[in-house]
This record gives sequence, structure tokens and C-alpha cells, in this order.
Amino acid sequence: MDKYLWNDLASDYAKSVEDNDDQTIQNYLKKEIEIISELCSKKIQDKKKFYIIDMGSGTGRVLFELNTFFKNAEISYLGIELSEPMIILSEKKKLKFSPDSNIHFIKMDLMELDSKLFEKSSPGSVVMCLYNTIGVLPDSKRPFFVEQMKKIAGPEGLVIISTFNGDDFKNIAPIMYNAMLPMIKKINSDSFDEKNRVFKNENGFRSQWFPKKQIMELLKTELEPIPIEINFDGKVKTFGYVFTNE
Ligand SMILES: C[S@@+](CC[C@H](N)C(=O)[O-])C[C@H]1O[C@@H](n2cnc3c(N)ncnc32)[C@H](O)[C@@H]1O
Repeated sequence: MDKYLWNDLASDYAKSVEDNDDQTIQNYLKKEIEIISELCSKKIQDKKKFYIIDMGSGTGRVLFELNTFFKNAEISYLGIELSEPMIILSEKKKLKFSPDSNIHFIKMDLMELDSKLFEKSSPGSVVMCLYNTIGVLPDSKRPFFVEQMKKIAGPEGLVIISTFNGDDFKNIAPIMYNAMLPMIKKINSDSFDEKNRVFKNENGFRSQWFPKKQIMELLKTELEPIPIEINFDGKVKTFGYVFTNE
């Protein structure tokens, strides 16, 4: 999808995600952050200095949550984001909730990521790309992007990717996108392309979903991802996955 479309979506992003009253979205975010906090905790443990870098950080929701979770640790948080309106919202949030925190946002295109620019944060960073952000990046650039993430994380670091469950696109996608209507704005009769696991609409919004094997291949890992499981209509369903490279 056009990377600049996010400028128009920014003002409604929180309504669809962190401030969404929809119980499924709330449960999804709660579960996702639990898994990510746990993974970061294990990695950080005895380290003196650590970086947590969020690629496509949006309104900064995960960095603020982690900052609250790891209150006393000496962690630097970095959000990488192309959309100026998203960065402005992140900075406003910072002023309101944690003005003195070590959270910073940098305007950068993920497609032009250069691991050399992150040398200061090595060795040992957690480098994340969450909430299916990898699915809004151009297909041909994904392998490059994941390689850069690995380089930035370094040998002592960790890469975390979370995606929606593309193995069950048919059932999960309608639940998720109907709940995120304030941001995506439009669901058309051909929005759910089940064959290709793509959600798209007439406004140019497009998100690719993946079978879990595809992300494992991208990460070059045999490690099974951690499922994001939610109770929906009395049944536990896998809405997404959290992948790591080790
Ligand atoms: C689905 S949102 C996810 C936001 C955040 N990671 C979260 O979990 O709430 C995708 C984010 O990626 C950003 N983005 C998309 N393409 C990008 C690019 N090429 N470079 C940098 N950021 C990009 C968008 O502006 C948007 O904020």
C-alpha cells in the first residue's frame, strides 16, 4: 500500500487500536503486549544498557506500554516511523504520559533502513515490527527489511515480528477489520481476498497476511511462533502470532 496513506489514517489510528472499545481488539492487544514484555524481560535480564526499537511504531503504543512495564530498567526506546502525523501524536503522548522518559521517535522509511545508522544501539537490542506492519510493506522489500532488523539487533539481540493469523484469514480478517472500521474507513464487497490473504479497500488500504511458515522462512528460523489466542464466541481462536529469531 502507499506508505503515505498512513498520514491520513493517523488521527483515527488510536480509535481503531489502543483506544478501541471492541473487546476482541482489547484482548488481542493485551495478549500481544504480555508476550512481548515477557520476551523483552528474558533478553534484558542482567544487561546494564539496552535498546528497544519499534519499526513502524505508529502512535508509539507498544513503546509507552513497555516503558511503564520496565519502570526501573535502563532502557532506551526508539520508534521508527515514516508518517509525520503519527510521530506528532507519539510526541504529544510522550509529553502527557512520560515527558522525562527515554523514548524517542525518528522519521525514517523502513524501506531504506541502514543498520549502520544503529551502531550505537548494538550490541543487544530488541528490534520489533508489530501488529502486522510487515504486511503493509512492499512484498519485494520484506527480505531486505528483515535482514536489516537482524543486523540491528546484533548477535546478542532479538528480533520480534507479530502478524495476524494468515492461516485463518477467512475467519479472523472480517472480525479484525470490522472492529477497526474507524481507521480503515471502508470495507468493500471485494475487500477480503481469501486466495491471496489480502485485505484491501477502495481508499488504497492494503494489508498482506501470511501463513506462519512464510514468516519463519523470512526470519530463517525453525522456531514455532507464540500464538495470540483469544476467546471469541465461546471458543479459543488464534488471532495472530509472535515470531522471534531465537
Ligand atoms: C499497522 S500500523 C502499526 C503501528 C504500530 N506498530 C502498532 O503496533 O500499533 C503500521 C505503521 O507502519 C508505518 N509505516 C508503513 N510503511 C512504513 C515505511 N515504509 N516506513 C516507516 N513506517 C512505515 C505506518 O505509518 C504505521 O504507523
